[in-house]
Amino acid sequence: MIPPGPKGDFLIGNLRQFRNQRLDLLLSNMQTYGDVAYMRFGPRSLYQLNNPDDIQYVLVKAAEKFYKSPSLKRATEQAIGEGLLTSEGDFHKRQRKLVQPAFHHNRIAKYGNVMVDYTAQMMDRWESGQQRDMHHEMMRLTMQIVAKTLFDADISSKTDSIGQAISIGIETTAERITQPLSLPEWIPTRRNIERRQAAEVVTNTILNIINARRESSQDTGDLLSMLLMGEDDIGEGMTDKQIYDEVVTLFIAGHETTANALAWTLYLLAQHPEVEAKLVDEIQMVLGGRTPTVGDLGQLRYTDKVIKEAMRLYPPAWIITRQAIENVLLGGYEIPAGSVVLMSPYVMHHHPHYWHEPEKFMPERFAPGWEDCIPKYAYFPFGGGPRICVGNQFAIMEANLVLATIMQRCSVALMPGKKVETEPLITLRPKHGIPMTIKKRENSHLALA
Ligand code: HEM
Repeated sequence: MIPPGPKGDFLIGNLRQFRNQRLDLLLSNMQTYGDVAYMRFGPRSLYQLNNPDDIQYVLVKAAEKFYKSPSLKRATEQAIGEGLLTSEGDFHKRQRKLVQPAFHHNRIAKYGNVMVDYTAQMMDRWESGQQRDMHHEMMRLTMQIVAKTLFDADISSKTDSIGQAISIGIETTAERITQPLSLPEWIPTRRNIERRQAAEVVTNTILNIINARRESSQDTGDLLSMLLMGEDDIGEGMTDKQIYDEVVTLFIAGHETTANALAWTLYLLAQHPEVEAKLVDEIQMVLGGRTPTVGDLGQLRYTDKVIKEAMRLYPPAWIITRQAIENVLLGGYEIPAGSVVLMSPYVMHHHPHYWHEPEKFMPERFAPGWEDCIPKYAYFPFGGGPRICVGNQFAIMEANLVLATIMQRCSVALMPGKKVETEPLITLRPKHGIPMTIKKRENSHLALA
């Protein structure tokens, strides 16, 4: 038996609806059809799972029965190859084992100063009354942070061109996933040429980082050194292509999502002065004017709630997909091998069954014990199981330190008349950025001191 789902076109199924109104379609599927909704993208069957237990089954309990979605892999192959995000099986396990130590909490604690320093440098460029796109600012910042912490590279002078190239890469990848037919990449269409040029900018940046380290033959003890020197159980190192794929994956996955989380957080704060006031009070109380350190994080509890709540309303990874390797039973339906299952943090984070007034920005809902009140996979911004985000603690630490540093010294206001819209591509981005006016706080001399 096939689960219920929205009616689609004879040939392309629900592809057009999905392309035009992704979030609304998935939300309405949850509201209308319940735990499992069926869709078809061309010949491919898709099952949208809206029950946390089914999501847990796919991501955790029966993770070995699923691959990552093939369409995402095909579309990202040229850009990120077979890095941690897309690799499978024993190869993925080996790579994850190699990379994981770089994200151990003792090691990431050392990155705190870099995170705060780059944020402070960004704010030194900001002036009161200035208008800036906060999405762009956060992208630049998180890109600098990931390059410095993981690869000891300062890419400050190139962030604009890399950021633009990554945007083109993300847009064209999303187009390729949702287009029923896309022309091969070697055909010189305008979009293919743009995509190739963008890929070259990213490739050159990453190769420069890797080559500079190779030439210096230094072991700086960072992730790049670990990759260059890493060996598996039988003493084999990685090929140049494998090193490239891991570095580019970590570079992109390591800044894009956190930048979106921070941009959406600022957007929400600008609309909720009462939350902003509470946040600033906490920052003043805990820091008393000095810049934050990793040691302060345990006390910046409201800051952490604000980030959690922003990632609930705007989860940067808004959709997670898998392909069933064998037939599986989910929500009472037999899901045939080869089908795609789709799990959306966005949908689950707005599910009225698990969240009181789901549309309301209410950081207080993350009071101690919140995890005991809802099923585990009603809130999963970082995924789960063996493929859970390897950088989740890095991201949480970064988001908290950056937010505390910004809000200590500035407040931001939305520019009147500018509409902010979601653009759910691979990540949940703001469509036309988030233009905001900056206002430096009067007591910010304390922070500078
Ligand atoms: C707010 C920030 C972030 C969010 C919301 C986020 C979200 C996610 C999610 C949902 C997944 C799982 C995807 C799936 O199961 O298909 C994932 C995987 C991954 N993330 Fe993150 N991420 C964030 C930050 C980071 C950072 C800072 C890094 C690295 C520095 C990173 C690196 C990765 C990698 C390498 C994977 C693949 C892991 C694997 O499959 O073994 N992410 N992320």
